[in-house]
Amino acid sequence: MMKFNISTFGCQMNEHDTEKIIWTLEKIGYQQTGYRDEADIIIFNTCAVRKTAEDRVFGQLGELQDLKRKNPNLIIAVCGCLMQKEEIRDYFLKKHRHIDIVFGTNNIHKLPQLIDRYLRTNEKVIDVIEDTKEISENIDSNRKYFYKAFVDIMYGCNNFCSYCIVPYTRGRERSRSVKSIINEVENLAQTGCKEITLLGQNVNSYGKTLDEKITFSQLLTILNNIEGIERIRFMTSHPKDFSDDLIDAYKSLDKLCNHLHLPVQSGSNRILKLMNRKYTKEEYLDKIYKIRECVPDIAITTDIIVGFPGETEEDFKETLDLVKKAKFDSAFTFLYSIREGTNAAKMTNQIPDEIKHERFQRLLDVLYPIGLESNQKLINTVQKILVEETSKSDENILSGRTESNKLVHFKGNNNIIGQIVDVEITDAKTFTLEGRLV
Ligand code: 5AD
Ligand code: SF4
Repeated sequence: MMKFNISTFGCQMNEHDTEKIIWTLEKIGYQQTGYRDEADIIIFNTCAVRKTAEDRVFGQLGELQDLKRKNPNLIIAVCGCLMQKEEIRDYFLKKHRHIDIVFGTNNIHKLPQLIDRYLRTNEKVIDVIEDTKEISENIDSNRKYFYKAFVDIMYGCNNFCSYCIVPYTRGRERSRSVKSIINEVENLAQTGCKEITLLGQNVNSYGKTLDEKITFSQLLTILNNIEGIERIRFMTSHPKDFSDDLIDAYKSLDKLCNHLHLPVQSGSNRILKLMNRKYTKEEYLDKIYKIRECVPDIAITTDIIVGFPGETEEDFKETLDLVKKAKFDSAFTFLYSIREGTNAAKMTNQIPDEIKHERFQRLLDVLYPIGLESNQKLINTVQKILVEETSKSDENILSGRTESNKLVHFKGNNNIIGQIVDVEITDAKTFTLEGRLV
């Protein structure tokens, strides 16, 4: 029996693509292993968003050379966003001659054929579809958890934020049909899934490429009616498209979780313009204020990039000011990373690393106390927690998430994993809460 080992780099989209790859290989009788040295095929599902992710993949691929020397029959396959970019793909293939199979984000379903072709010819197989309008529906996923699942609702992105490589790797925006999404969610509900996270680079523009007239909020309303599903989340929405009907959805749909991830990227209007984000700091804050007014207990999280080309001290202070006003529950923070092929990579006023790092630290110094304060507000409240897993260090400690997506640790027996239970919050830290089962 062939054994495969797969490593995933990057975002939830990639994690979910990995679940699809696992399903595809298990369907043809392959077995997954957690150990690279006992695998017949090693797969790297790669990420291109930042240079650090690229370097990590590059380094780990180098380490596989030894394994390949010991076992010449070992097949090394690389897929994901990095392989969608021709220059990066060519560079990897030139530097790492032990790569045997390359495939892209649009042809995961073809993997068994590609392996077969490699085994028959013993020649490198490269199969990447640069852009496609098609969506392959005849592929399922072997999901990591039974109680929560990612569900793709759209692929690609048309926004071309000037720093971002995604529109060049994942291609143009296209939505899955409502019917296939409902079908998938109904099947999930039947197998005990309680929470779904709808995935797309810009979920607010769901439906725009479909013949049927449907908006994202309408899709949410339909999914809210599916019995068995108790929580609905989504990722990611773009502030420019975040509209009142979505705020209404938060008010009217009981299963839509009180969490919104709304990446702001910068608080400086000048930088936002250079980033091609199409909103101002004031417009962003207005949206935040409005949703907080309508949904008072909502948790709001964001993404922030520090050190975009030309970012001055004044620009950066605008970001700090926005963070204080928006009172984010938490944020993913990134050092700007040059991605060849994007408009920002051509800008000549790149920021020196020391300044980027110094600003990064100052940003965290502002973010953390705000996050802690919002967590502390939950002390002595009772929260509904979807129980996810036992702690790696103590099997009597369980972890789960509030509806607002905060991580909570509490004592309990692992037979309640997958259930939604009441937990009283007893203590709060910057990143986690502690509680007691009620
Ligand atoms: N450099 C740093 N961060 C980036 N992101 C996207 N491209 C870059 C880049 N070139 C961040 C953005 C985005 C998140 C997924 O990754 O904040 O929202
Ligand atoms: Fe990248 Fe902007 Fe598209 Fe998000 S919206 S994937 S940051 S181009």
